[in-house]
Amino acid sequence: MDFIQFERNEAAAREIEHHYGRAPRLFLHSYGCQQNVNDGEKIRGVLQDIGFVSCSSPEDADLVVFNTCAIREHAEDRVFGNIGALKPIKEQNPGLMIAVCGCMTQQETIVEKFRKSYPYVDIVLGTNAIDEFPQKILEKLGRKKRILTSPVERTDIVEGMPVARGCTFRAWLPIMYGCDNFCSYCIVPYVRGRERSRRSADILAEFKSLIDQGYKDITLLGQNVNSYGKGLDEGLDFSDLLAMLDKVEGDYRIRFMTSHPKDATHKLIDTIAASHHICHHLHLPVQSGSDEVLRRMNRNYTAEKYLDLIRYAKEKIPDLTFSSDIIVGFPDETEEQFEQTLELVRTVRYAQLFTFIYSKRTGTRAAEMPDHVTHKEKTDRMARLLAVQDEITQEIYSAYAGKCVRVLVEGPGREDGVMTGRLDNNMVVEFPCTDASLTGMFELVDVLDAKGAVLKGNLV
Ligand code: SAH
Ligand code: SF4
Ligand code: F3S
Repeated sequence: MDFIQFERNEAAAREIEHHYGRAPRLFLHSYGCQQNVNDGEKIRGVLQDIGFVSCSSPEDADLVVFNTCAIREHAEDRVFGNIGALKPIKEQNPGLMIAVCGCMTQQETIVEKFRKSYPYVDIVLGTNAIDEFPQKILEKLGRKKRILTSPVERTDIVEGMPVARGCTFRAWLPIMYGCDNFCSYCIVPYVRGRERSRRSADILAEFKSLIDQGYKDITLLGQNVNSYGKGLDEGLDFSDLLAMLDKVEGDYRIRFMTSHPKDATHKLIDTIAASHHICHHLHLPVQSGSDEVLRRMNRNYTAEKYLDLIRYAKEKIPDLTFSSDIIVGFPDETEEQFEQTLELVRTVRYAQLFTFIYSKRTGTRAAEMPDHVTHKEKTDRMARLLAVQDEITQEIYSAYAGKCVRVLVEGPGREDGVMTGRLDNNMVVEFPCTDASLTGMFELVDVLDAKGAVLKGNLV
């Protein structure tokens, strides 16, 4: 695999200055997962690098960038809706440049749709072409034609792109890109390409620089972090990487996502247990509690194997919290299979659950599977799952009443006069406070009670 070092596009920077005669304004919005949010930070970084400044609405912008997500139909619909809303803005401001990138644009059918039905979209660019963004803008300024790039697969990794981070204390740090797992329902392997790991030295350098800049909460990202290292000849697995980063001195936390259960090991749990900085929280998406459904999802583990790992983790790290993703209504999921999911949820007792109704993704294997479950049955199952989880959440959270917890203050809460903080185990606590200068600091909070998935307390 090739590693490429990013270089500033001087020609683009000159042309931008010449064309606008002032700093042009960028409105950028990222949809989807943290990987995509981090990509958005890089897009902003490379565009700032050639002279763009950020603005907060498409009406004020010279360039609008939508960094899209394709994970479910609803996600794509939302993007099409928001792009549609740009049409009158472009009519008002014909100089406005509109660019669409991210996971949606890695599908040829979607690029075709932009070509045919969205003539006011100027640039379409894939997930793996962030470093080429300045060049595309340069080309677009030079000729009036639209630049709609067809999806291409790239096998290299670009290092050293500028990252305009959206937060001053919490950071995303990708350790790998792509996915090779081909879960039968999932579009990600098609739109993000093959799995590629960054070199550990590059990860460590970025990690240290984040700590030096004062970041307190760093999340290592990958679609399946447990397969980190494959394809590199470093002989380092994900647990080794964690242990290496954990040695860096400082007062900070390490998180990671996502762990695929098929590759999560006892070594990983032991590494968390022995570490100083790794959070006592494990996001381990199970998707279903039925072995038959898991088999058809191509997940490569059984409910029993999953529960074994959970048991081991609970034994080793008693205060570890778990979270998970679950898909409800996978093609032809039976009532009995759904009940096995409920049973597993009751056994594990997740602190937090992300639940999704199955969404058919063209090109995936599950899209070819017959499905006789009605939408009504799916939404009923979803409601039942949420009811089971709500009860568990309430019990887990209520048990924190009376505890004093260390939190990283994240900023203002939903109501006036309230701020929120995050515990090591990913739970969120709200407390009365108006001192914005505490944002990004570790503080102690006495927990009084819980309301749903939020603890309530007072600053010590
Ligand atoms: N790589 C991560 C998941 C990334 S996608 C992992 O393997 O855990 C995040 C979640 O979206 C998935 O865990 C799954 O629960 C959900 N998801 C993915 N494809 C979906 C689909 N077609 N319909 C509904 N939910 C889906
Ligand atoms: Fe999708 Fe499965 Fe890859 Fe996760 S591991 S991104 S669910 S294919
Ligand atoms: Fe969406 Fe792409 Fe992430 S499809 S969930 S933005 S990898």
